[in-house]
Amino acid sequence: MSKLAAEEKAINLSQGYPDFPTSPELISLVNEAMIKGFNQYAPMPGIFSLREVISDKLKFLYGATYDPDREITITAGATQAIFTIISALVKSGDEVIYFAPAYDCYEPTIRFNGGKPVEISMKSPDFRIDWEEVKSKVSHKTKMIIINTPHNPTGTILEKEDMLQLEQLLEASNMFVLSDEVYEHLIFDGLEHQSIARFPHIAARGFLVASFGKTFHNTGWKVGYCAGPSKLMSEFRKVHQFNVFSVNHPVQRALAEYLMKRENYLSLPDFFQAKRDLFLNAIKGSKFAFTPSSGTYFQLLNYSEITDENDMDLAVRWTKQLKIASIPVSAFYADKTDDKVLRFCFAKSDETLLKGAEILNGIT
Ligand SMILES: Cc1ncc(COP(=O)(O)O)c(C=O)c1O
Repeated sequence: MSKLAAEEKAINLSQGYPDFPTSPELISLVNEAMIKGFNQYAPMPGIFSLREVISDKLKFLYGATYDPDREITITAGATQAIFTIISALVKSGDEVIYFAPAYDCYEPTIRFNGGKPVEISMKSPDFRIDWEEVKSKVSHKTKMIIINTPHNPTGTILEKEDMLQLEQLLEASNMFVLSDEVYEHLIFDGLEHQSIARFPHIAARGFLVASFGKTFHNTGWKVGYCAGPSKLMSEFRKVHQFNVFSVNHPVQRALAEYLMKRENYLSLPDFFQAKRDLFLNAIKGSKFAFTPSSGTYFQLLNYSEITDENDMDLAVRWTKQLKIASIPVSAFYADKTDDKVLRFCFAKSDETLLKGAEILNGIT
């Protein structure tokens, strides 16, 4: 959709990346690291000072203890961490449960490793997990369950009750947990992020995956991390050693310093909530139905009052004719479920959001 948006010179609220700059301070820190000569391979698990500050952050935010030496690894973004976790643990015939609509890399990575994807749908308009259904899908072959909170594309979050249900499920199964938490700092209305790090029984069998690209508006730098108990992390590193080995060194140096100032990530909920509110206020007179996003930088808009056209065709048509690009949510389901919802990214300048809103308000 981004390619089409560029060709059509449309307002691009489709792909999930900010159109505003990353912090000049962070850029200077990368620059400084390069000038100081940190231009050769970083150690395989990542530089220690970065792992140490991540460990402090996990303690500060979630009260969890992760040993920076053995339980945290720096990765080339979250997608690489996800690929590596699945490759390290999932073998031929293993089943992996995940929830749709889902971020696009889960299903192909499970298949690539010989696993069997078990997709469970979350139903519109609430997009909540039905834990009874999950229970019914767990079998002796279930190797892993993938959760994602705050959730792309729906903007919903898992609540404490969901985590307790997951904890219960783990009592009766040997499965592992992959917790995709790349939007951990993008959570609104005073809600609390339910990281697996808050739940010792889940954390003992789980990998937490995070992305600095999402956190600090630099998705193109592709640096993230993964935290998990040492036994699991040693399996992770056996794969990481040979498919990545070393992640961008000067960026790691810069992040290690930048993360020391907690304000740099604690300020994010207010920053993105203001963008969400600006966008939603601007379209409140439109014909779209919506529930304000609780987290991520995505907002779903239901267009069933406007047309019954399928979401794929509609997203393309509006990009070409109305010059506004979005993502059809059916693209996030294996069976292309069409609930008549489009995903809009509000990590954009206020000017872009207001221009987008003006077009959406004009649709009748
Ligand atoms: C839910 C989710 N997980 C992972 C990623 C990938 O993060 P990264 O760019 O760090 O690989 C994305 C990016 O869109 C995402 O939405």
